[in-house]
Amino acid sequence: MFDVILYQPEIPPNTGNIIRLCANTGARLHLVKPLGFSLEDKQLVRAGLDYHEFATLRVYENWAECRECFTGRRLFAVSTRNTHRYDCMTYAQDDAFLFGPETRGLPMDLLDTFSAERRIRLPMRPESRSLNLSNAVAVIVYEAWRQIGFENGR
Ligand SMILES: C[S@@+](CC[C@H](N)C(=O)[O-])C[C@H]1O[C@@H](n2cnc3c(N)ncnc32)[C@H](O)[C@@H]1O
Repeated sequence: MFDVILYQPEIPPNTGNIIRLCANTGARLHLVKPLGFSLEDKQLVRAGLDYHEFATLRVYENWAECRECFTGRRLFAVSTRNTHRYDCMTYAQDDAFLFGPETRGLPMDLLDTFSAERRIRLPMRPESRSLNLSNAVAVIVYEAWRQIGFENGR
């Protein structure tokens, strides 16, 4: 299945929603520290409801540690600063998607380590700034899953 990586997420209910999304789609979730909350945060637990037990969650001390674990894997950076539309890509089993923190997005120096074709964005109206993090994750995961025929879904 797919891997969702949240780089330094800040807002508990967003991560809670994403835990639930991952449980429902089979995606594995990875959190890169520092986190803006504790994993026991009530809002996070409430948003994730009873889905924690169905989601695979791993936490990393920093980006270098996380990046190391994805060596040899196809990794897409998802940012408003990119130019390639997410729906123009062909995704495959085990692709991984990296998302930025709610107030800052992915740092430019990190984005610059990705080749242009591994940097994707979701279209928006010209005057818009960004989508909510959990909505952005949902759109990407469902598009990738759709492309592989909702494998193991029903
Ligand atoms: C609330 S947004 C961050 C806003 C930040 N000012 C920026 O421009 O990246 C949180 C994360 O959601 C994802 N995101 C939200 N809207 C997006 C879009 N239109 N295209 C690509 N990623 C988006 C990105 O991963 C982003 O880092």
